[in-house]
Amino acid sequence: MCGIMGYVGDREATSILLDGLRRLEYRGYDSAGISTLDSNRKIHVVKDVGKVEQLAQKAELSGLRGIAGLAHTRWATHGGVTMLNAHPHLSCNREVTIVHNGIIENYLELRRDLDAKGHLFVSDTDSEVIAHLVEAVYRNKKDVLPALTDVVRQLKGAYAFAAILADAPNVMVGARQDAPLVVGLGNGENFLASDALAFIGHTDRVIFLDNRELVLLTEKNVTIYDFEGNVKQKPATQIAWELGSVSRREFEHYTLKEIHEQKETVLQALRQDPRSVDVFVDALERAGKVYITGCGTSFHAALLAKLLFTTYAKIPVEVLLSSEFDQYEELLDKKALLIAVSQSGETADVLSAVKAARKMGVKVCSIVNAMGSTLVRESECTLLNNCGPEIGVAATKSFTSQLMIFNMLALRLGQREAELSDLWSTGRLVEKTLGLDAQIQEIADRLHVANDFYFVGRSLHHPLALEGALKLKELSYIHAEGMAAGELKHGSLALISEGVPVVVLNPEDGTYGDTLSNASEVKARGGRIIGVSTKPSKVYDEYIEIPVAAPNIYPVLEAVPLQMLAYYAAVSRQQNPDYPRNLAKSVTVK
Ligand code: AGP
Repeated sequence: MCGIMGYVGDREATSILLDGLRRLEYRGYDSAGISTLDSNRKIHVVKDVGKVEQLAQKAELSGLRGIAGLAHTRWATHGGVTMLNAHPHLSCNREVTIVHNGIIENYLELRRDLDAKGHLFVSDTDSEVIAHLVEAVYRNKKDVLPALTDVVRQLKGAYAFAAILADAPNVMVGARQDAPLVVGLGNGENFLASDALAFIGHTDRVIFLDNRELVLLTEKNVTIYDFEGNVKQKPATQIAWELGSVSRREFEHYTLKEIHEQKETVLQALRQDPRSVDVFVDALERAGKVYITGCGTSFHAALLAKLLFTTYAKIPVEVLLSSEFDQYEELLDKKALLIAVSQSGETADVLSAVKAARKMGVKVCSIVNAMGSTLVRESECTLLNNCGPEIGVAATKSFTSQLMIFNMLALRLGQREAELSDLWSTGRLVEKTLGLDAQIQEIADRLHVANDFYFVGRSLHHPLALEGALKLKELSYIHAEGMAAGELKHGSLALISEGVPVVVLNPEDGTYGDTLSNASEVKARGGRIIGVSTKPSKVYDEYIEIPVAAPNIYPVLEAVPLQMLAYYAAVSRQQNPDYPRNLAKSVTVK
């Protein structure tokens, strides 16, 4: 889960790569670096620990010349966050530079062999082995393609890497095995990156590489091969993401911008190709059993989907955490449908669950934001979130898009025509809810000093309680727990003392009365109740009013104040909400 990028063309590479790194930073921000090959066939590297902006400030960067280069932003796995462990890496004779995303499982073994042959390693990373291996193999073969096929034959693990060799000027190579890699086709220039966002300002024509594919790029040509060295013909795809949608506009952070975009993105999620919806619905209708899997926020969307499918379509659903999928693999019903939910479509746990399910003969459909991602290509049918790139590490607009898609499917299956058409009112209701911004900022200003927060709700509000807690933890680093409101009295009530904030999700639906009683039990023990509801109550110390809506829409509306609370608590605690510590947007390791 690092971001890699490469450029070969007729322009100076450094500023193009630096701009790309800024767009890839969501993938990791422990360190960043750029390498270029100059006209004298010399490779130069500038890197630094910390975020891309720190790299951008380095004076050496302006002297980095070359029309071919690589760039990397790191989320550390092997080796600490140090300058030496930062990418790009070099081979010992500075003949090869590489950037890598993923894990080389057999790096210790390879490193021992290369050590014995006199290669000097300077980092603790698994990645550096690729640079030395390319150098060693190329020295024998003297031809890029055979060298590359030999290298990938020796590497084990999940990886995407790009390399430039001093001896083969203005040729860039790349390889993909279980980690994303996309080619960007420009005019007299070509790109390679973990995500098309990196180069979308230069071209929207892309080729998504598949597993076990290699690519050789020059400024004019792009040739794709399989790992055995056979040429593969692959069509280019035109992608639609607008450059404008990756700017922060007037917002201080991407996270806030993405929260505010939800008034439009909830409707975008409903604007699906009718044929794709038919295929998805048909798969659900034919399935002997339905499983849904995901991680983190996407898992919370899956939990809500279970309730929607049960309530509105009378379809029983089992929700399985992708990271725990191994436990259930053998028990899967072969006639089942597995719905995999993922913003990125690259989460390793999700992809591994999908692989296991497919091996057992289970049909896989998915709900994904990133078109062209691995999950889309591994699925028999997909509905896209259509919410545009989500840069903030915390999932916000992708979550509400997932909720809208699940709503649409459940209502369509249950033939609930009135509720289906009512879904189109969600945009207006979300817009109204966004008006809570100033009030929530004020609440966060007051409560950000709390050590613990609790979030409770029943039924459809329970997954939202889990999500509210996750969001607060990851953005503000305040300890938080989400739970079913009725479960408080079975243990956690012991943690409530004077002033402990408890967010109660309680709009007026079938759960209203019971949840209000649970809130009163907390208040009687000194808890500070933050009621998210459609109706004021003297039980609430703070009242956050959301608009009256159909019960299935409430979770979408509740998501907004919960995301804002987490965002403003982070800001009050002087944390950058876009880049929470220790996290990365795409978790491409298991
Ligand atoms: C959410 O805010 C998190 N950053 C994280 O839990 C995320 O939802 C999870 O890693 C799954 O990602 P995906 O949807 O891209 O698969």
